[in-house]
This record gives sequence, structure tokens and C-alpha cells, in this order.
Amino acid sequence: MAKARSQFLCNSCGSVHPKWMGKCPDCGTWDSLQEYKTPTPDARAAVANRQTADLATATQALTLEQIDHEDAPRTATGIGEFDRILGGGIVPGSAVLVGGEPGIGKSTLLLQVADALANLKSQIPDFKVLYVTSEESARQTKLRAARLNIASKNLLVLAETNVERIVNQIHKVNPAVVIVDSIQMIYKPELPAAPGSVTQLRDCCMDLVYLAKTSGTAVIFVGHVTKAGTLAGPKIIEHIVDTVVYFEGDRFHSHRIVRCVKNRFGSTHEVGLFEMTGEGLREVTDPGNLFMEQYRPGGQPSGSVITAAMQGSRVLLVEVQALTASSVIGAARRKVSGASNDRVGMIIAVLEKRAEMRLAADDVFVNVAGGVKVAEPAIDLAIALAIASAHTNRPMQPGTFALGELGLGGEIRSIPQLEVRLREAARLGLGHAIVPHVGGKIPKLGGMAVHEVRRLSQALADI
Ligand code: TYD
Ligand code: MG
Repeated sequence: MAKARSQFLCNSCGSVHPKWMGKCPDCGTWDSLQEYKTPTPDARAAVANRQTADLATATQALTLEQIDHEDAPRTATGIGEFDRILGGGIVPGSAVLVGGEPGIGKSTLLLQVADALANLKSQIPDFKVLYVTSEESARQTKLRAARLNIASKNLLVLAETNVERIVNQIHKVNPAVVIVDSIQMIYKPELPAAPGSVTQLRDCCMDLVYLAKTSGTAVIFVGHVTKAGTLAGPKIIEHIVDTVVYFEGDRFHSHRIVRCVKNRFGSTHEVGLFEMTGEGLREVTDPGNLFMEQYRPGGQPSGSVITAAMQGSRVLLVEVQALTASSVIGAARRKVSGASNDRVGMIIAVLEKRAEMRLAADDVFVNVAGGVKVAEPAIDLAIALAIASAHTNRPMQPGTFALGELGLGGEIRSIPQLEVRLREAARLGLGHAIVPHVGGKIPKLGGMAVHEVRRLSQALADI
């Protein structure tokens, strides 16, 4: 019998390598390569035979004109924030991956989604949802459902880890949507690898996606992201599925941001916002000032600057906080959470060089409050002002917020969607905006005073 060929797959980025290495050469993660056995030629021949047998019913090549171009009909789940991330609802026959760290709320969200879908029966006859739990027992799922007040009759629960039995049940029940929680715990008995390994993860996922495409049943996978790397990561199946969404942030904050990173059926810019409560996840529909509960109308302390970040098509007002403290000479630390480390490093350099601020002997800490991550350069100016305000120990004027990208020459560059951000800030009662120079093209927004600046030094004069 031919020998199975081994390849090594990176848990973190999914790249393939011919031999094992301590560090993935593509993404630089240590100890992330895992052995993956490619099917033997015999197994491949079996697959080819099966495909030949399918030929009679095989699909035909079509011209674009012959293809039905109707928008794929979607099933809205009724949980608005979840539908928003998916681009309006679940597409039949699609595969969705929901990833996140353990304990962040994946099972809670999907049980709620399953229930909301199962309650659609009144609109769509014979609409069933199958929730496959491979981590918890059916009893545990029942207890969780009781806690979440879920008791839909069209929601079926299956506690199973063998993928063949799961497929059998799907054929038997014929549900419209199947949820597999989690993909890392299911296995295929004929594979010589442990559940959670790259080989198992890929093959089980392939089988279920194949089933989704042929039967029209939508499949939602849950995948754990673990830092320890003991489980193969969801990255490995990202290319197999149609839509990928990740829970962001950590479980120590009550708010959860669910971000779409890939979507074959819609935009990938959307985020969903939820709050973890005693009765499961609650949607947050007006997130405006969600992340600045601590906003004090009387004024912010030094080192704190409000800014407006775009999250999908929505504006989120966030508070950037900075602290500088004298450090051991030559060992100054820069610690950043919620923003880009590299950009903060660059901003500190610009402050040193263009604003003559001596920060080389100081530790600098920057934090975006509330556990939200903001990657866009539009918050550069807010970070720069927060550091400057902390360094000089002078707070910003009450009701001030700042927007703008910082250039290496100390210039403030324009940012996308300036007006949308200003409108949201005006709605939430902020009275003074520091923005990039646009030549007075900003419409009057309530009583908001808009200060257009071309250079960092002009903005610093406001502190
Ligand atoms: P869970 O959905 O089990 O996380 P995951 O499937 O991503 O591992 O969520 C676990 C956390 O959520 C747990 O720490 C308890 C908390 N939780 C609540 O706060 N309220 C609730 O109603 C539920 C069901 C869970
Ligand atoms: Mg879970």
C-alpha cells in the first residue's frame, strides 16, 4: 500500500511546509506547525471513482448569461446584530465560521441564533434547526437553554462527535440550518489523527461544507482560537467556508464585538455589538457612546481624549487614554492596548521630533478604554494629544474630541467619513472638534465648534 505523505500546516496562518520547523517562516509563530497527512493515492482514487459515478448528475458549464443572477435569498435570523454581520441573514447552502477565544460567548450567541431561527417556523413551513453540541452534553445544553429562556420545538439538539453520524442525522432531520459547536471536537474515525488536529479539522469541515453545498442546508461552525496552540486554529478552515466572523476583545469586558473578516455574500466591514448579561447576549443597537461610560461632561482628566472610530458603517465614540511616567534611563517602555503598537511608536517619534516633547526617558502607556480595538489611522491625532496631555499634565477642554491622521512631518492628514463622525459626536453632545484642514467645507452641526488644523503644533495649542 502506498505510504501517506506528510505535510506540515501552520495553526496560525494555515501555510503548508514540507518539513517541521520550530517557527513558521510565513507568520513567525513559534511551535505552530502540525503534521497533516495528505490522502494516500488509494484514497484519492476512491474519491475520483465517486466523482465519476456522480457524472450523470454533474453540473454543466454555463455562460454567465445562463446563470440565474437573482440575489441569494437570505433567512434573517431575527437577531439584528448577527444579521448585520452576515449581510442580511443566512444564505442557504452557505458555511459560516464563528471564531473566538474560549468563554467569550460563542455557544451562547449561537444557541440564541438557533432559537430565533427555529421560531421562524410560523413564516417558513418545515423549518428546523439542528444544534450539534460536541463539547457539552445534551443536558448541559438544555440547562443553558433554560437559562436563556429557550424552548423552541423546532430546535433539535444532538450531542455527537462522530462526523459520519452527524451527517446521517442531518440527512434524516433535513434541517435548514445546522450549528456545529465546536468543529475542533468532532472527528472522522477512519483518520489516524486526534480530534482537534489539522487533519481532522480539515477533513470534517470539508465533509460538512460539501454537504451544505449539495443539500442547501446552511452550516455554522464554531471554532476556538487558542493562544496555546494545542488545538488547530480556525484559520485553517477560513478558505473553505463562505463567511468568517470573529469575536473580538476579551471576556473580562461585558461588551462583545463580533467582526466579519470574510464574506462571499456581502460586505466584510460590518461589526455586531452585544452585551453579555445574565440572560445571554443582548444586542446593542445604539452604540454611540458605549465605550465612554466614563465620559464626564465636566471635562476629562489629563491624558484622556475622545475620538470617533468607524466600526463597519457605524461610528463609535471611544476614549483614548495615555499615561507617561518617568522610567529607568535607557529602558523606557511603550505599552499599547486597543491600538496599533507601531503607530503609537511612530506618534511618539513625531511628538519628539516635531513638537519637541522629551519622551525618551518616560514609560508611555496607551489604552483605548472599554476593550475595543481600533486599527484606523484616523485616531492618530487623539493618541498624540492624549500622550501630550498626559506628559504636560494638562487636560483637554471639556467636550473636546479629535480626529485626524498624523504624518511623519507633523502634518495632520484628512480622514475618510469625517462628516459622519462629526454628526455622531454632535448628536452625543460633544461641543468642540479638532479636525484636519478641509477648508471650511464642514456644515454647521448644532452648536459644535470645529477647529481645523494643518499641523500637530496647532492642535497641541488647544491643550
Ligand atoms: P460561552 O457561550 O459558553 O462561551 P464559548 O462557547 O465561546 O466558550 O460563554 C461563556 C461565558 O458567558 C461564561 O463565562 C458565562 C457567560 N454567560 C453569561 O454571562 N450569561 C449567560 O446567560 C450565559 C449563558 C453565559
Ligand atoms: Mg462553547
